[in-house]
Amino acid sequence: MSSNNSRADFGSKIGMILATAGSAVGLGNIWRFPTEAGKGGGGAFLIVYIACILLVGLPLMTAEFVVGRAAHTNTAQAYKRLGGGWLWRHVGQFGVFIGWFILCYYIVVSGWTLNYLVTSLRLGPYGAANWDTYFGEMVARPWEPIVYMAVFMLMSHFVIVRGVQKGIEKFSKILMPLLFLIMVVLCVCSLFTPRAAEGLDFLFTPDFSQLHFKTVLGAMGQAFYSLSIGMGCLCTYASYFSKETRLVKTAFQISAIDTLVAVMAGIIIFPACFSAGIEPDAGPSLVFIALPKVFHDVFGAWPILAWVVSVLFYALLVLATLTSAISLQEVPTAYLAEDCGLSRGAATSVVSGVCIALGAVCSLSMGPLSDWTLFGKNIFDLFDFVSSNIFLPLSGACITFFVGWRLERSLLMDELTNGGAVSPTLARCLVGLLKYFVPFAIVLVFLSGIGIF
Ligand code: PHE
Repeated sequence: MSSNNSRADFGSKIGMILATAGSAVGLGNIWRFPTEAGKGGGGAFLIVYIACILLVGLPLMTAEFVVGRAAHTNTAQAYKRLGGGWLWRHVGQFGVFIGWFILCYYIVVSGWTLNYLVTSLRLGPYGAANWDTYFGEMVARPWEPIVYMAVFMLMSHFVIVRGVQKGIEKFSKILMPLLFLIMVVLCVCSLFTPRAAEGLDFLFTPDFSQLHFKTVLGAMGQAFYSLSIGMGCLCTYASYFSKETRLVKTAFQISAIDTLVAVMAGIIIFPACFSAGIEPDAGPSLVFIALPKVFHDVFGAWPILAWVVSVLFYALLVLATLTSAISLQEVPTAYLAEDCGLSRGAATSVVSGVCIALGAVCSLSMGPLSDWTLFGKNIFDLFDFVSSNIFLPLSGACITFFVGWRLERSLLMDELTNGGAVSPTLARCLVGLLKYFVPFAIVLVFLSGIGIF
């Protein structure tokens, strides 16, 4: 498996952990997790979510790591090299396609976060905006969201074009500590809001009466999304891991960081929402409509603090989405550079160009192209629906089947135990989960995603 010996690897353990955690930590943690927890009874959702991470997320993440590290190449080649044959070659290419496809609409939302950061900075402590209508008006404009989206894409381009060590790793080492620092500052501010105790109570005291079968499926879908499973990112990053990296331990560390960030986002958002008298289950509009008002209401007596908090919050969102977008962009870039003979610069430009073009169509579907619909959904919603509800479970199913049933058992155990250096007990449990439990869980998530129950 070492035909690619000259290939770049992550240069340090901390760089590898921060880059991979950067992929996992994103909108899923800061936007989606609090919304889902808000709908699913706070603490009860948290317990179920942690169980889903351990029983489904962790095995799948480890499985993607195994494929990437064992093959030591991009996602498309990896499945072909390890699986052989026509089918597996296409499964790998499908993984690359999903990463690219998701990036096209992920950068649209990322552009909104950049817009909010710039707008809150520009407003200053004494400026005001009508946040109730701001979001709807902003996304419906033809050019503004496209410009922000393109600027965001170029930020990711700027990192990716520099390569694995000088780009992804170096920037993750700067951006991720900054992200943690901002989170800690925001948590402290939120804990000083008047009704902080109620917010914390909601997040940590389980209300099992709100817990339904659908909530469990929601938690499982959230675990998938939050850990970046099935998008080729984990497999591609694992192809840059060293042979000494302990895959199960690394998957555990990344899942723990990801969950910690989600809980911290809850600690920021719930006390602030309760203090401003806003329901924490406001749905996806929470971050873009409710929160800007929340910051101004709660810290109204100190306009400068209100301003700093909202600027920091949107800076946090931009950082989190940027590190995720970088990991997504690396998937097709590595493929084009390694399989299609393009230079890294050319590969990065092709990926950025296609994403900006398709992202512009997604963005316009909220405004001038809003009557281009299929099954009652505009293009942006279609991208979102198809990727979250169809592509991701399908790709998850391929990974679990490939690693659980198809991959040579000795190679699998070798990767999981680093050639016998680590005790095989945990590895055996993970393989058992991958073979029997995870496929069952994926089928349930898929059926729920397409509306069967
Ligand atoms: N895991 C990311 C999050 O939590 C989502 C994501 C990452 C999506 C990478 C795509 C690619 O937001």
